[in-house]
Amino acid sequence: MRVGILTAGGDCPGLNAVIRAAARRLLAHRHEPVGLRRGYRGLAERDHLPLDQKGVSGILPLGGTILSTSNYNPFREPDGLEKVRAAQAADPLDAVIAIGGEHTMMITRRLSEELELPVIGVPKTIDNDVVGTDYTFGFDTAVQTVTSALDRLHTTAQSHDRVMVVEVMGRNTGWIAVFAGIAGGADGIVIPELELTVEEIAAAIQRRHERGKDFSIIVVAEGAQLAFESGERREIRASEDVDGYGYPRLGGIGVALAAEIEARTGYETRVTTLGHVQRGGTPTATDRILATQYGVHAADLVMAGETGRMVALRGTEMTSIPLEEVDGIKTVDLRYLEIARTFFG
Ligand code: F6P
Repeated sequence: MRVGILTAGGDCPGLNAVIRAAARRLLAHRHEPVGLRRGYRGLAERDHLPLDQKGVSGILPLGGTILSTSNYNPFREPDGLEKVRAAQAADPLDAVIAIGGEHTMMITRRLSEELELPVIGVPKTIDNDVVGTDYTFGFDTAVQTVTSALDRLHTTAQSHDRVMVVEVMGRNTGWIAVFAGIAGGADGIVIPELELTVEEIAAAIQRRHERGKDFSIIVVAEGAQLAFESGERREIRASEDVDGYGYPRLGGIGVALAAEIEARTGYETRVTTLGHVQRGGTPTATDRILATQYGVHAADLVMAGETGRMVALRGTEMTSIPLEEVDGIKTVDLRYLEIARTFFG
């Protein structure tokens, strides 16, 4: 079989580990893995590269993706679907393994339905918001990066008696904020899933200072809104732009929240926006293992002809679910926030 492998949407640590695992599993069974460059653009434009033993050698610890990525969506591009059809007619692939987030899974499902293309989805994202799987690879590395930043910020916050507001990624979910907040000992966590007013946040910081702590670390997820006791809500965005998948560009809540905290408490407040540093660098061992499991399982499903599915982690089991079940986003399990709250105020 000739099997295309592509990475689509935002990158995250562990993509290369999946590519390597899927390719090596296919090669071991004498199939031919082919890399498709820049996500679905590579499928539409027949931009391929060979994924032989040499092509996937040495990539396990590398961040990013050797295949490059893009938000190319054949259903939004003029003639996108026609191009994919023509590419398949001229140079057919027997199956495609698409590594991407929730939006990529939707495109993958539609392609499988409309072109009868045998596909397997592999869920990736630092946000951990893909429905149907307990964890996406890339998440653990991002949490580790944020936790290291929180450790560093603690020392300087303490020296200067400051409040540090740390804005983290996660799109419309608070997984990174909550997990890194627990691991890094945050004194407050603000997420999109559960509203917290600026007055409540300021009061918690004040309580903490009253019991002798002169500094505080507040983690805020980029998708959270600025909420006020009065009922006013402010949605903060980096710009009015949307990306190729139609998602708004988030960012800026950290700066806005810090100004409100300083105005209400009088404590000197600084902001750190971690941004894309959370998506870069070498994957943690946990992410390498998860990515390898996903890649091997994806190749096995292709070889077994069980396509139209997304590989998924359920507990400790590697399994798969039909792509139709990947709908919406997986919001944070609030039991984790409850644990984090033990340490607030
Ligand atoms: O989905 C991953 C993610 O890093 C989000 O956490 C963030 O909102 C977004 O992508 C940033 O996208 P871009 O790389 O297009 O700025």
